[in-house]
Amino acid sequence: MHDGDVFGDRERDESYDATARVVDAQGDADERTVEAALRPRRLAEFAGQSRVRDQLSLVLEAARRRGTPPDHVLLSGPPGLGKTTLAMLIGSELERPIRITSGPAIQHAGDLASVLSSLMEGEVLFLDEIHRMSRSAEEMLYLAMEDFRVDVIVGKGPGATAIPLELPPFTVVGATTRAGLLPAPLRDRFGFTGHLDFYAVDELETILARSAGLLEVAADAAGISEIARRSRGTPRIANRLLRRVRDWAQVHGRDVVDEEAAHAALALFDVDDLGLDRLDRAVLDALCRRFGGGPVGLSTLAVAVGEEADTVETVAEPFLVREGLITRTPRGRAATALAWQHLGLTPPRGADVQTPLPLDGEGRFGD
Ligand SMILES: Nc1ncnc2c1ncn2[C@@H]1O[C@H](COP(=O)(O)OP(=O)(O)O)[C@@H](O)[C@H]1O
Ligand SMILES: [Mg+2]
Repeated sequence: MHDGDVFGDRERDESYDATARVVDAQGDADERTVEAALRPRRLAEFAGQSRVRDQLSLVLEAARRRGTPPDHVLLSGPPGLGKTTLAMLIGSELERPIRITSGPAIQHAGDLASVLSSLMEGEVLFLDEIHRMSRSAEEMLYLAMEDFRVDVIVGKGPGATAIPLELPPFTVVGATTRAGLLPAPLRDRFGFTGHLDFYAVDELETILARSAGLLEVAADAAGISEIARRSRGTPRIANRLLRRVRDWAQVHGRDVVDEEAAHAALALFDVDDLGLDRLDRAVLDALCRRFGGGPVGLSTLAVAVGEEADTVETVAEPFLVREGLITRTPRGRAATALAWQHLGLTPPRGADVQTPLPLDGEGRFGD
Protein backbone atom coordinates (compact mmCIF):
# COMPACT_ATOMS: atom_id res chain seq x y z
CA MET A 1 0.00 0.00 0.00
CA HIS A 2 1.49 3.28 -1.02
CA ASP A 3 -0.09 5.65 1.44
CA GLY A 4 1.94 8.54 0.14
CA ASP A 5 0.61 8.08 -3.36
CA VAL A 6 -2.97 7.65 -2.39
CA PHE A 7 -3.31 10.22 0.31
CA GLY A 8 -0.87 12.76 -1.06
CA ASP A 9 -1.94 16.35 -1.35
CA ARG A 10 -4.46 17.26 -4.01
CA GLU A 11 -2.02 18.64 -6.48
CA ARG A 12 0.43 15.81 -6.46
CA ASP A 13 0.59 14.27 -9.88
CA GLU A 14 2.52 11.03 -9.98
CA SER A 15 1.98 10.36 -13.64
CA TYR A 16 4.92 9.76 -15.87
CA ASP A 17 5.42 13.07 -17.57
CA ALA A 18 7.16 12.65 -20.84
CA THR A 19 6.72 16.33 -21.69
CA ALA A 20 9.02 17.10 -18.77
CA ARG A 21 12.00 16.79 -21.05
CA VAL A 22 10.80 19.80 -23.01
CA VAL A 23 12.72 22.89 -21.90
CA ASP A 24 12.87 21.80 -18.34
CA ALA A 25 15.54 23.99 -16.89
CA GLN A 26 14.16 23.86 -13.36
CA GLY A 27 13.69 21.11 -10.86
CA ASP A 28 10.80 18.74 -10.82
CA ALA A 29 9.31 19.83 -7.52
CA ASP A 30 9.44 23.43 -8.62
CA GLU A 31 7.70 22.55 -11.81
CA ARG A 32 4.91 20.77 -9.98
CA THR A 33 4.34 23.68 -7.64
CA VAL A 34 4.04 26.16 -10.48
CA GLU A 35 1.83 23.80 -12.42
CA ALA A 36 -0.48 23.39 -9.45
CA ALA A 37 -0.65 27.15 -9.00
CA LEU A 38 -1.66 27.60 -12.62
CA ARG A 39 -4.39 25.00 -12.57
CA PRO A 40 -7.86 26.45 -13.12
CA ARG A 41 -10.07 26.13 -10.02
CA ARG A 42 -13.44 26.19 -11.76
CA LEU A 43 -14.63 24.58 -14.95
CA ALA A 44 -15.45 28.05 -16.30
CA GLU A 45 -11.76 28.98 -16.10
CA PHE A 46 -10.79 25.97 -18.18
CA ALA A 47 -10.05 27.34 -21.65
CA GLY A 48 -10.67 25.45 -24.88
CA GLN A 49 -11.90 21.84 -25.28
CA SER A 50 -15.37 23.35 -25.42
CA ARG A 51 -17.03 20.11 -26.50
CA VAL A 52 -15.63 18.05 -23.64
CA ARG A 53 -16.18 20.89 -21.19
CA ASP A 54 -19.84 21.33 -22.16
CA GLN A 55 -20.50 17.60 -22.06
CA LEU A 56 -18.81 17.26 -18.72
CA SER A 57 -20.59 20.19 -17.18
CA LEU A 58 -23.91 18.68 -18.25
CA VAL A 59 -23.02 15.34 -16.69
CA LEU A 60 -21.99 17.05 -13.45
CA GLU A 61 -24.99 19.36 -13.30
CA ALA A 62 -27.42 16.49 -13.86
CA ALA A 63 -25.77 14.46 -11.12
CA ARG A 64 -25.90 17.43 -8.78
CA ARG A 65 -29.63 17.84 -9.37
CA ARG A 66 -30.29 14.17 -8.83
CA GLY A 67 -28.17 14.24 -5.73
CA THR A 68 -26.21 11.17 -6.83
CA PRO A 69 -22.56 10.76 -7.81
CA PRO A 70 -22.09 11.13 -11.58
CA ASP A 71 -21.15 8.27 -13.89
CA HIS A 72 -17.52 7.27 -14.09
CA VAL A 73 -15.48 9.54 -16.35
CA LEU A 74 -12.57 8.61 -18.61
CA LEU A 75 -10.26 11.34 -19.93
CA SER A 76 -7.85 10.53 -22.70
CA GLY A 77 -5.32 12.43 -24.77
CA PRO A 78 -1.64 13.29 -25.09
CA PRO A 79 0.27 14.58 -22.03
CA GLY A 80 -0.14 18.17 -20.88
CA LEU A 81 -3.61 18.83 -22.32
CA GLY A 82 -5.48 19.07 -19.03
CA LYS A 83 -6.56 15.58 -17.93
CA THR A 84 -5.38 15.98 -14.33
CA THR A 85 -6.76 19.51 -14.26
CA LEU A 86 -10.20 18.30 -15.36
CA ALA A 87 -10.14 15.50 -12.80
CA MET A 88 -9.47 18.03 -10.02
CA LEU A 89 -12.22 20.24 -11.42
CA ILE A 90 -14.71 17.39 -11.24
CA GLY A 91 -13.97 17.13 -7.52
CA SER A 92 -14.27 20.85 -6.95
CA GLU A 93 -17.38 21.32 -9.09
CA LEU A 94 -19.09 18.52 -7.17
CA GLU A 95 -17.67 19.88 -3.92
CA ARG A 96 -16.49 16.40 -3.14
CA PRO A 97 -13.19 15.17 -1.79
CA ILE A 98 -10.90 13.64 -4.38
CA ARG A 99 -8.59 10.71 -3.81
CA ILE A 100 -5.58 10.57 -6.11
CA THR A 101 -3.63 7.56 -7.19
CA SER A 102 -2.24 6.13 -10.40
CA GLY A 103 -1.97 2.89 -12.33
CA PRO A 104 1.73 2.38 -11.60
CA ALA A 105 1.11 2.90 -7.86
CA ILE A 106 -1.35 0.00 -7.89
CA GLN A 107 0.81 -3.05 -8.28
CA HIS A 108 -1.47 -5.50 -6.52
CA ALA A 109 -5.20 -5.88 -6.28
CA GLY A 110 -4.77 -5.45 -2.52
CA ASP A 111 -3.49 -1.89 -3.06
CA LEU A 112 -6.70 -1.06 -4.87
CA ALA A 113 -8.86 -2.92 -2.33
CA SER A 114 -7.61 -0.75 0.49
CA VAL A 115 -8.22 2.43 -1.45
CA LEU A 116 -11.72 1.32 -2.46
CA SER A 117 -12.73 0.11 0.97
CA SER A 118 -11.89 3.47 2.53
CA LEU A 119 -13.86 5.61 0.06
CA MET A 120 -16.63 7.78 1.38
CA GLU A 121 -19.96 8.20 -0.33
CA GLY A 122 -19.73 10.45 -3.37
CA GLU A 123 -15.95 10.63 -3.25
CA VAL A 124 -14.07 11.07 -6.52
CA LEU A 125 -11.31 8.54 -7.14
CA PHE A 126 -8.77 9.83 -9.65
CA LEU A 127 -6.83 7.03 -11.32
CA ASP A 128 -4.09 8.57 -13.41
CA GLU A 129 -2.36 6.49 -16.09
CA ILE A 130 -5.12 3.96 -15.60
CA HIS A 131 -3.81 1.82 -18.49
CA ARG A 132 -0.76 0.93 -16.39
CA MET A 133 -2.69 -0.83 -13.64
CA SER A 134 -2.09 -4.54 -13.06
CA ARG A 135 -4.52 -7.03 -14.57
CA SER A 136 -5.75 -8.29 -11.21
CA ALA A 137 -6.43 -4.75 -10.01
CA GLU A 138 -8.25 -4.04 -13.25
CA GLU A 139 -10.60 -6.94 -12.65
CA MET A 140 -11.30 -5.76 -9.15
CA LEU A 141 -12.02 -2.30 -10.52
CA TYR A 142 -14.67 -3.65 -12.97
CA LEU A 143 -16.65 -5.05 -10.11
CA ALA A 144 -16.26 -1.99 -7.95
CA MET A 145 -17.31 0.38 -10.75
CA GLU A 146 -20.31 -1.67 -11.75
CA ASP A 147 -21.67 -3.17 -8.54
CA PHE A 148 -19.97 -1.02 -5.91
CA ARG A 149 -18.59 -4.14 -4.37
CA VAL A 150 -15.11 -5.40 -3.63
CA ASP A 151 -13.95 -8.82 -2.53
CA VAL A 152 -11.50 -8.51 0.31
CA ILE A 153 -9.27 -11.55 0.66
CA VAL A 154 -8.65 -12.55 4.23
CA GLY A 155 -5.92 -15.04 5.08
CA LYS A 156 -3.40 -16.78 2.84
CA GLY A 157 -3.16 -20.03 0.91
CA PRO A 158 -5.91 -22.66 0.92
CA GLY A 159 -7.58 -21.12 3.97
CA ALA A 160 -8.00 -17.71 2.32
CA THR A 161 -11.56 -16.48 1.99
CA ALA A 162 -13.04 -13.67 -0.03
CA ILE A 163 -15.32 -11.44 1.97
CA PRO A 164 -17.56 -9.30 -0.22
CA LEU A 165 -17.71 -5.71 0.93
CA GLU A 166 -20.36 -3.25 -0.17
CA LEU A 167 -19.02 0.15 -1.22
CA PRO A 168 -20.87 3.45 -1.07
CA PRO A 169 -21.48 4.98 -4.52
CA PHE A 170 -18.46 6.92 -5.78
CA THR A 171 -17.10 8.19 -9.08
CA VAL A 172 -13.97 6.97 -10.81
CA VAL A 173 -12.18 9.49 -12.98
CA GLY A 174 -9.61 7.69 -15.11
CA ALA A 175 -6.94 9.43 -17.17
CA THR A 176 -4.87 7.87 -19.90
CA THR A 177 -2.58 8.82 -22.74
CA ARG A 178 -3.43 5.47 -24.31
CA ALA A 179 -7.18 4.84 -24.41
CA GLY A 180 -6.47 2.13 -26.97
CA LEU A 181 -4.64 0.08 -24.36
CA LEU A 182 -7.61 -0.13 -22.01
CA PRO A 183 -9.36 -3.47 -22.21
CA ALA A 184 -12.86 -3.08 -23.64
CA PRO A 185 -14.65 -4.24 -20.45
CA LEU A 186 -12.93 -1.49 -18.47
CA ARG A 187 -13.59 1.14 -21.12
CA ASP A 188 -17.27 0.15 -21.20
CA ARG A 189 -17.70 0.91 -17.53
CA PHE A 190 -17.13 4.60 -18.04
CA GLY A 191 -20.39 6.42 -18.65
CA PHE A 192 -18.60 9.38 -20.16
CA THR A 193 -15.38 9.55 -22.14
CA GLY A 194 -13.78 12.86 -23.00
CA HIS A 195 -11.02 12.91 -25.56
CA LEU A 196 -8.77 15.94 -25.22
CA ASP A 197 -7.24 17.32 -28.36
CA PHE A 198 -4.46 19.79 -29.07
CA TYR A 199 -5.42 23.42 -28.43
CA ALA A 200 -5.83 26.12 -31.04
CA VAL A 201 -3.46 29.09 -30.89
CA ASP A 202 -6.14 31.50 -29.66
CA GLU A 203 -7.03 29.12 -26.82
CA LEU A 204 -3.39 28.94 -25.79
CA GLU A 205 -3.25 32.74 -25.90
CA THR A 206 -6.10 32.86 -23.39
CA ILE A 207 -4.34 30.35 -21.15
CA LEU A 208 -1.03 32.21 -21.40
CA ALA A 209 -2.59 35.58 -20.62
CA ARG A 210 -4.13 34.09 -17.49
CA SER A 211 -0.86 32.42 -16.49
CA ALA A 212 1.10 35.64 -17.04
CA GLY A 213 -1.34 37.39 -14.72
CA LEU A 214 -0.99 34.74 -12.02
CA LEU A 215 2.80 34.69 -12.30
CA GLU A 216 2.92 38.51 -12.41
CA VAL A 217 4.80 38.46 -15.69
CA ALA A 218 4.29 41.48 -17.92
CA ALA A 219 3.72 40.20 -21.43
CA ASP A 220 2.47 41.95 -24.56
CA ALA A 221 0.07 40.49 -27.11
CA ALA A 222 2.75 39.76 -29.71
CA GLY A 223 4.91 37.95 -27.15
CA ILE A 224 1.98 35.87 -25.94
CA SER A 225 0.90 34.97 -29.42
CA GLU A 226 4.41 33.93 -30.48
CA ILE A 227 4.65 31.59 -27.48
CA ALA A 228 1.14 30.24 -28.14
CA ARG A 229 1.99 29.52 -31.75
CA ARG A 230 5.04 27.49 -30.80
CA SER A 231 3.68 25.49 -27.87
CA ARG A 232 2.72 22.31 -29.72
CA GLY A 233 -0.94 22.92 -28.96
CA THR A 234 -0.20 21.99 -25.32
CA PRO A 235 -0.98 24.16 -22.27
CA ARG A 236 1.74 22.57 -20.14
CA ILE A 237 4.35 23.45 -22.74
CA ALA A 238 2.87 26.95 -23.21
CA ASN A 239 3.14 27.65 -19.48
CA ARG A 240 6.67 26.30 -19.37
CA LEU A 241 7.80 28.33 -22.38
CA LEU A 242 6.27 31.44 -20.84
CA ARG A 243 8.55 30.96 -17.82
CA ARG A 244 11.62 30.45 -19.98
CA VAL A 245 10.86 33.56 -22.02
CA ARG A 246 10.32 35.46 -18.79
CA ASP A 247 13.76 34.24 -17.63
CA TRP A 248 15.31 35.48 -20.85
CA ALA A 249 13.63 38.86 -20.55
CA GLN A 250 14.74 39.25 -16.93
CA VAL A 251 18.34 38.32 -17.60
CA HIS A 252 18.44 40.73 -20.52
CA GLY A 253 17.05 43.58 -18.48
CA ARG A 254 13.67 43.73 -20.25
CA ASP A 255 10.55 44.21 -18.24
CA VAL A 256 8.16 42.83 -20.83
CA VAL A 257 7.82 39.45 -22.47
CA ASP A 258 7.57 40.55 -26.09
CA GLU A 259 8.04 39.01 -29.50
CA GLU A 260 11.78 39.57 -29.52
CA ALA A 261 12.21 37.90 -26.12
CA ALA A 262 10.05 35.00 -27.31
CA HIS A 263 12.14 34.54 -30.47
CA ALA A 264 15.43 34.63 -28.62
CA ALA A 265 14.39 32.36 -25.76
CA LEU A 266 12.68 29.78 -27.95
CA ALA A 267 15.71 29.61 -30.22
CA LEU A 268 17.89 29.07 -27.15
CA PHE A 269 15.70 26.19 -26.01
CA ASP A 270 15.59 24.52 -29.43
CA VAL A 271 11.94 25.13 -30.10
CA ASP A 272 11.59 25.59 -33.83
CA ASP A 273 9.21 27.64 -35.90
CA LEU A 274 6.46 25.00 -35.84
CA GLY A 275 6.98 24.50 -32.12
CA LEU A 276 8.75 21.18 -32.64
CA ASP A 277 11.23 20.25 -29.95
CA ARG A 278 14.34 18.13 -30.12
CA LEU A 279 12.57 14.78 -29.95
CA ASP A 280 10.08 15.77 -32.64
CA ARG A 281 12.90 16.79 -34.93
CA ALA A 282 14.94 13.69 -34.11
CA VAL A 283 11.98 11.56 -35.17
CA LEU A 284 11.57 13.43 -38.45
CA ASP A 285 15.28 13.41 -39.02
CA ALA A 286 15.62 9.66 -38.47
CA LEU A 287 12.59 9.00 -40.64
CA CYS A 288 13.90 11.02 -43.58
CA ARG A 289 17.67 10.66 -43.37
CA ARG A 290 18.03 7.14 -42.07
CA PHE A 291 14.98 5.43 -43.42
CA GLY A 292 14.47 7.34 -46.67
CA GLY A 293 11.09 8.63 -45.50
CA GLY A 294 9.81 5.25 -44.32
CA PRO A 295 7.56 3.50 -43.78
CA VAL A 296 9.38 2.19 -40.75
CA GLY A 297 8.12 0.38 -37.67
CA LEU A 298 7.63 2.29 -34.43
CA SER A 299 10.15 0.29 -32.42
CA THR A 300 12.88 0.69 -35.06
CA LEU A 301 12.20 4.41 -35.15
CA ALA A 302 12.31 4.61 -31.34
CA VAL A 303 15.68 2.85 -31.22
CA ALA A 304 17.02 5.25 -33.84
CA VAL A 305 16.15 8.26 -31.67
CA GLY A 306 17.14 6.57 -28.41
CA GLU A 307 13.72 6.80 -26.77
CA GLU A 308 11.11 4.39 -25.48
CA ALA A 309 8.62 3.37 -28.17
CA ASP A 310 5.87 4.50 -25.80
CA THR A 311 7.32 8.01 -25.59
CA VAL A 312 7.64 8.31 -29.35
CA GLU A 313 4.09 7.06 -29.76
CA THR A 314 2.34 9.09 -27.07
CA VAL A 315 4.44 12.26 -26.96
CA ALA A 316 5.98 12.98 -30.35
CA GLU A 317 3.75 11.19 -32.80
CA PRO A 318 0.29 12.63 -32.06
CA PHE A 319 1.46 16.15 -32.72
CA LEU A 320 3.52 15.24 -35.78
CA VAL A 321 0.50 13.44 -37.23
CA ARG A 322 -1.73 16.33 -36.32
CA GLU A 323 0.57 18.75 -38.12
CA GLY A 324 0.63 16.52 -41.20
CA LEU A 325 4.36 15.80 -40.89
CA ILE A 326 4.10 12.05 -40.56
CA THR A 327 1.47 9.46 -41.35
CA ARG A 328 0.72 6.09 -39.88
CA THR A 329 0.50 3.45 -42.57
CA PRO A 330 -0.13 -0.27 -42.22
CA ARG A 331 3.61 -0.78 -42.76
CA GLY A 332 4.76 1.80 -40.24
CA ARG A 333 5.42 5.51 -39.90
CA ALA A 334 6.17 7.56 -42.99
CA ALA A 335 7.32 11.14 -43.61
CA THR A 336 5.10 13.45 -45.62
CA ALA A 337 6.24 15.99 -48.19
CA LEU A 338 5.84 18.60 -45.45
CA ALA A 339 8.37 16.78 -43.26
CA TRP A 340 11.02 16.80 -45.98
CA GLN A 341 10.31 20.43 -46.59
CA HIS A 342 10.48 21.30 -42.88
CA LEU A 343 13.92 19.71 -42.61
CA GLY A 344 15.02 21.56 -45.73
CA LEU A 345 15.59 18.30 -47.58
CA THR A 346 14.54 17.03 -50.97
CA PRO A 347 12.97 13.57 -50.96
CA PRO A 348 15.10 11.06 -52.92
CA ARG A 349 13.89 10.40 -56.45
CA GLY A 350 11.28 7.71 -56.60
CA ALA A 351 10.62 8.00 -52.87
CA ASP A 352 7.11 7.12 -51.89
CA VAL A 353 6.27 10.45 -50.28
CA GLN A 354 3.08 10.28 -48.30
CA THR A 355 0.38 12.86 -48.35
CA PRO A 356 -1.38 13.20 -45.03
CA LEU A 357 -4.88 11.81 -44.85
CA PRO A 358 -7.54 14.33 -43.96
CA LEU A 359 -8.39 14.25 -40.27
CA ASP A 360 -11.87 13.09 -39.44
CA GLY A 361 -14.62 15.54 -38.52
CA GLU A 362 -13.49 16.13 -34.97
CA GLY A 363 -9.88 16.43 -35.99
CA ARG A 364 -9.10 13.88 -33.37
CA PHE A 365 -6.22 11.57 -33.19
CA GLY A 366 -7.43 7.99 -33.05
CA ASP A 367 -5.77 5.29 -31.00
N1 LIG B 1 -7.75 24.18 -20.55
C1 LIG B 1 -6.80 24.67 -19.75
N2 LIG B 1 -6.88 25.93 -19.28
C2 LIG B 1 -5.89 26.43 -18.50
N3 LIG B 1 -4.80 25.74 -18.12
C3 LIG B 1 -4.68 24.48 -18.54
C4 LIG B 1 -5.67 23.87 -19.36
N4 LIG B 1 -5.30 22.61 -19.63
C5 LIG B 1 -4.12 22.43 -19.00
N5 LIG B 1 -3.74 23.55 -18.34
C6 LIG B 1 -2.50 23.72 -17.58
O1 LIG B 1 -1.50 22.87 -18.15
C7 LIG B 1 -0.80 22.17 -17.15
C8 LIG B 1 -0.86 20.70 -17.46
O2 LIG B 1 -2.18 20.20 -17.36
P1 LIG B 1 -2.50 18.74 -16.78
O3 LIG B 1 -3.93 18.74 -16.39
O4 LIG B 1 -1.52 18.41 -15.71
O5 LIG B 1 -2.27 17.85 -18.07
P2 LIG B 1 -2.33 16.24 -18.23
O6 LIG B 1 -2.83 15.67 -16.92
O7 LIG B 1 -3.28 16.00 -19.37
O8 LIG B 1 -0.96 15.80 -18.57
C9 LIG B 1 -1.44 22.54 -15.81
O9 LIG B 1 -0.59 23.41 -15.12
C10 LIG B 1 -2.70 23.30 -16.17
O10 LIG B 1 -2.80 24.43 -15.37
MG1 LIG C 1 -1.73 14.40 -15.64
